[in-house]
Amino acid sequence: QAPSAPLKALTPAPLGVAVMSGQLDDPAWTTLARRHVSQLTPEWEMKMEYILGDDGAFRFDAPDRIDAFARANAMRLHGHALIWYSQGQDWFEAIKPARREQAFDDYIARVAGRYRGQVAGWDVVNEAVAEDGDGLRDCHWSAQFGQDGYIARAFERTRAADPDAVLFLNDYNLENLPRKGATFLRLVERLLRAGAPITGIGTQAHLDIDIPAGQITAFMRDAAAFGLPIHVSELDAPMGSGLIDRARRDARRRLQTARVTEYAEAFAALPERQRYAFTLWGLRDTDSFVNRQGGDDSPLAFDGDGRPTPLFQALADGFAAA
Ligand code: G3I
Repeated sequence: QAPSAPLKALTPAPLGVAVMSGQLDDPAWTTLARRHVSQLTPEWEMKMEYILGDDGAFRFDAPDRIDAFARANAMRLHGHALIWYSQGQDWFEAIKPARREQAFDDYIARVAGRYRGQVAGWDVVNEAVAEDGDGLRDCHWSAQFGQDGYIARAFERTRAADPDAVLFLNDYNLENLPRKGATFLRLVERLLRAGAPITGIGTQAHLDIDIPAGQITAFMRDAAAFGLPIHVSELDAPMGSGLIDRARRDARRRLQTARVTEYAEAFAALPERQRYAFTLWGLRDTDSFVNRQGGDDSPLAFDGDGRPTPLFQALADGFAAA
């Protein structure tokens, strides 16, 4: 089988993947990434859970390694994620209330400041919207600053630390759950109107392949209306593990590739200035977090041996259609 064209050559924008610093020691991973990938997102090592030690000390060894690899291989770096409801609670709540605002601002200044000029963009706030779409999540950040307050402050502090990065509000199930997607876009509109420097929209795209055809296209059309760069930031499309029955596996694969093509088409149909990047949440199926407890799912564009999966062609078909 002739080697496939590099995926990044078929993508009408940077083609990103999630990376963990340990993968940089795997020649199979780095060879495949150099051929197919033009942007990297640290999968977890640029988050509070890695950077902030229990003693409040900051560690940057792993994200610095990823940054250096990206630069050495002419790949863009995408920063993920500064403020997230699911991280930092113990650290933040251990700080005296009078010092919490300064600690929040200092964290962003130190992390976004360190990678100023390196990252093309940041997921400034991740997953702010409630899963049922009924408003925003309450968390330790909103307890301190108010629901819109912590988001606006995070964007303002990040802009102060990095005047050039694209600043993203990032969330998931925006296409899978139209009510959540609508709440997310209303949040973007409200924050922009309040002057928050949101300059990018991130849709994670952890796909539920059973969603009705057209929902992806509908969300992307509504998101595009803001005229901002859009990042399909974490696409994977799990089919389910343990699909031994051939007929069932083939049926799931057909659903998966149809939805992935739909996402690629919708992205490619955006005006060029709104196509920030298209990122897969892992390079090979065996790198996927969905298989980290030993699953055999095939949610990504390459299998464990680095061969293209049907998802590769689904992407190529969608990107070519525009
Ligand atoms: O590798 C270390 C291991 O050395 C250590 O012993 C172990 C115990 O602490 O941790 C291991 O690191 C884990 C890391 O994944 C690598 O496997 C972290 O604990 C674990 O928290 C981390 O989970 C990540 C998760 O976000 C939370 O940060 C997943 O890899 C990552 O795929 C997942 O990605 C999220 C996006 O950031 C946001 N959107 C949803 C997406 C999937 O949940």
